Amino acid sequence: MTADSDDQRRETGTGAEEPAAPPHPVISRYYSSREERQEWVDSMFDASAVHYDWITDVMSFGSGRWYRGWALRRHGLESGMRLLDVGTGTGVIARKAQDIVGPSGEVLAVDPSEGMLEQARAAGVEQTMTGQGEDLPVATGHYDMLTMGYALRHVADLHTAFGEYGRALAPGGRVLLLEITPPRSRVGYHVLRFYLQRVIPLITRVFRRSRDAQVLMYYYWDTIENCVPPETILAALREAGFEQVDRHVIFGIFSEYTGVKPAAADSGTAT
Ligand SMILES: C[S@@+](CC[C@H](N)C(=O)[O-])C[C@H]1O[C@@H](n2cnc3c(N)ncnc32)[C@H](O)[C@@H]1O
Repeated sequence: MTADSDDQRRETGTGAEEPAAPPHPVISRYYSSREERQEWVDSMFDASAVHYDWITDVMSFGSGRWYRGWALRRHGLESGMRLLDVGTGTGVIARKAQDIVGPSGEVLAVDPSEGMLEQARAAGVEQTMTGQGEDLPVATGHYDMLTMGYALRHVADLHTAFGEYGRALAPGGRVLLLEITPPRSRVGYHVLRFYLQRVIPLITRVFRRSRDAQVLMYYYWDTIENCVPPETILAALREAGFEQVDRHVIFGIFSEYTGVKPAAADSGTAT
């Protein structure tokens, strides 16, 4: 399935409209159909963009920015490399990446939400572009690393997005996807659910006085809870042609999905 045929189906509303591998089902509390999802998601992120960094800092007890930089270094980002950050939001990963790759490297931050990109630029992200993971506005085979932090749940289809990631990466390039995964233990699951579904939305509402920011956090948990299991994400990466596909878990909830585009690849996909 190509990105073009997906676009056509979205526009015309005809044919097989179900994406092959959506990261989660329609969450009808927020929007009523897949066709409405991206527009709703974009307007939610536009409306809550000014609150995003504050929420991230509070939610992670100030460790979120540090963790992203640590993950980038552990997974091989070095001075001089070219990195594409998809679903960049306010650019927390992109900013860390700029520091690591330095002036001889390159970082491009992509996101569909103009509100988020505005915050990213204000915070110091140098190169931004509007776009979605499923249809990247970038040249083929250019990047040494592609990152996506806590945004995988927002693409329409894993196969289309991973096909695009393979296209954007240079042979030997690496994909790094950071996600939250509910813990396997019952107790851990309920603790995380209480924290993300109750505590964080309440704190956000009280301190930011913003209904939009509160909805952002409700949606955050709802997409985590409804997300496909890690095995499905790993299988989709393999199907897109990535090698050395792996998932590393920190503290039972922070999933780091990685894969490498084969060095011998000479086409627009990772295969
Ligand atoms: C939770 S924020 C993550 C921001 C940042 N990557 C981080 O590490 O904090 C999710 C981002 O995904 C973006 N997004 C929504 N739909 C997307 C899509 N189809 N492709 C790529 N990004 C998308 C949103 O606009 C939002 O900025």
